[in-house]
Amino acid sequence: MALPLQSTGDPRSVRRVLRVFATFPLPAAARNVLRGAALRSYRGPQPIPRRTLLSGVRGADGLLCLLTDRVDGALLAGAPRLRAVANCAVGYDNVDLAAAGARGIVVTNTPDVLTESSADLAFALILAAARRVVEGDHMVRTGAWRGWRPDQLLGQDVHGATLGVVGLGRIGAAVARRARGFDMRVLYWSRRRLKRPPAGARWVPLDRLLATADVVTLHVPLTPATRGLIGARELARMKRTAVLVNTSRGPIVDERALITALRRRRIAAAGLDVFAAEPHVPAALRALPNVVLTPHVASATTATRAAMATLAARNLAVALAGRRPPNRVELTVRRARV
Ligand code: DGY
Repeated sequence: MALPLQSTGDPRSVRRVLRVFATFPLPAAARNVLRGAALRSYRGPQPIPRRTLLSGVRGADGLLCLLTDRVDGALLAGAPRLRAVANCAVGYDNVDLAAAGARGIVVTNTPDVLTESSADLAFALILAAARRVVEGDHMVRTGAWRGWRPDQLLGQDVHGATLGVVGLGRIGAAVARRARGFDMRVLYWSRRRLKRPPAGARWVPLDRLLATADVVTLHVPLTPATRGLIGARELARMKRTAVLVNTSRGPIVDERALITALRRRRIAAAGLDVFAAEPHVPAALRALPNVVLTPHVASATTATRAAMATLAARNLAVALAGRRPPNRVELTVRRARV
């Protein structure tokens, strides 16, 4: 069913078709959700340049954007008609919630639909980093493999190991469920202890988790409180045989401290899908053999990306129709009272 996407603000005025600007090409299902609106999409191969974003959103009622698009006070100030921002990602650290809230702009995200795909990729990185899959691939491809040896590319066992989940939200819990299939013991740390944690996961303080886990996997959102959560001190608490996996947001880990820890074999290996200043990845990190690097692709399956775009479009359509969208992000600052 198509949602009404015409302005109903003033009953005396001619009904105006609402304008939506999308910073990426939408799949057919998402376009269909927005078919009542005048939709313009940026179609370039790279993230939309800032100037194009600012001019695209200027006359728009709704914005459909990506985690690479900075939606800040300056952008919102230049878009006086804007009523809703639908971020096509579960994370929304690219959106200034306070600035949006001050202007009464609704912000939404796309939870749930990407949980399982993101957990799959986290587990892929756990296995790849612990079992040195990429080093092995490189050895075979480059012809450096001279034959089977009993001491070749020895890694860490994943089965039966202890998994430490930092942030047991939807994705963290989905990784914990997968760990059960590998007979892993699951510890978790979150600000709040869950009454009924999944997969028999046990809450422990963060320092204890870091000191005990064989694999530490990060699933907290990026906030002022989690920026730099894993730094030199935390890495020093980890086992020398431990593996660190980050599929959440790059700035949660102090990248320089991690490079030092990997170089000095303070920890055994890491698997990273996210970086502090994407798409820049420090040369020192790229040079290390004991890290597996992927380009922020945790949710990158055909089905999941289509589901995310369609959910974002639905959130936007519902918000523009004046109703509460299913995935509204709670704003930290309420509308200023006059
Ligand atoms: C998200 O949705 O926040 C992810 O990082 C995208 O893969």
